[in-house]
Amino acid sequence: MMNIRILTQFPEMFGAVLGGSILGRAQENGLIAFDVINIRDYSADKHHKTDDTPFGGGAGMVMMPQPAFDALRSLGAEGKRILYMSPRGRILDRELAEDLAKEREFYILCGHYEGVDERILTAWGMEEVSIGDYVLTGGELAAMVLVDCVSRLVDGVLGSPESLDEESIYSGLLEYPQYTKPREFEGLSVPEVLTNGNHRLIHLWQYEQSLRLTRKRRPDLWAKYLENNNILTKDEKKILNMVLSEDERP
Ligand code: 6GU
Repeated sequence: MMNIRILTQFPEMFGAVLGGSILGRAQENGLIAFDVINIRDYSADKHHKTDDTPFGGGAGMVMMPQPAFDALRSLGAEGKRILYMSPRGRILDRELAEDLAKEREFYILCGHYEGVDERILTAWGMEEVSIGDYVLTGGELAAMVLVDCVSRLVDGVLGSPESLDEESIYSGLLEYPQYTKPREFEGLSVPEVLTNGNHRLIHLWQYEQSLRLTRKRRPDLWAKYLENNNILTKDEKKILNMVLSEDERP
């Protein structure tokens, strides 16, 4: 059972995401426990104040150390892995998500406005994590993105082990195009190979599509994919070598 503890001034923002279909089921099945902790509850101030104006002046408000320190101490977070969601942090990618998915427990602090008192970050050895090069109004949405992508990597959360199996060969590649019924729609047809029931050919076609799409759209991922020692069948190697021998085309 994995335990993810989220500290925030806006706990109500998490309801729809953590209670949603996949993460809700993960909790019901005892795979992950999410604790959303309201930092305001730990404020020693009579008005439950959690932030104040920045020393040195400037716009916005900064999270005070007292409520955060007391919340973390009362939760027993000493020595634990604590992430702080911030555009200054390491950008979340598959490697970081896979690493976090191995943890039994970790904490996430969400800041708002102009951020948090730096002493919270240093005293608690927090790891700053960003979800991309743009700025959000608060860390909550970023925390939800991180929790969602880590949760789907936890054993049993997605259900079918088949989908993980499939992911291993495709990992690092973009997804191939998908189609559903009807076979013909407004004169647009589904690629013939998908409708013929030859699973070996279907798989090879999908693999080829993934390779081509990745090379065209994400040369960075493509270079990484080629560096990896991917475990491929003879047929898959043939497809990869064919794609490699051709000039880039859609
Ligand atoms: Cl983690 N927080 C905020 N406030 N903005 C962000 C972010 C995080 N990642 C990208 N933009």
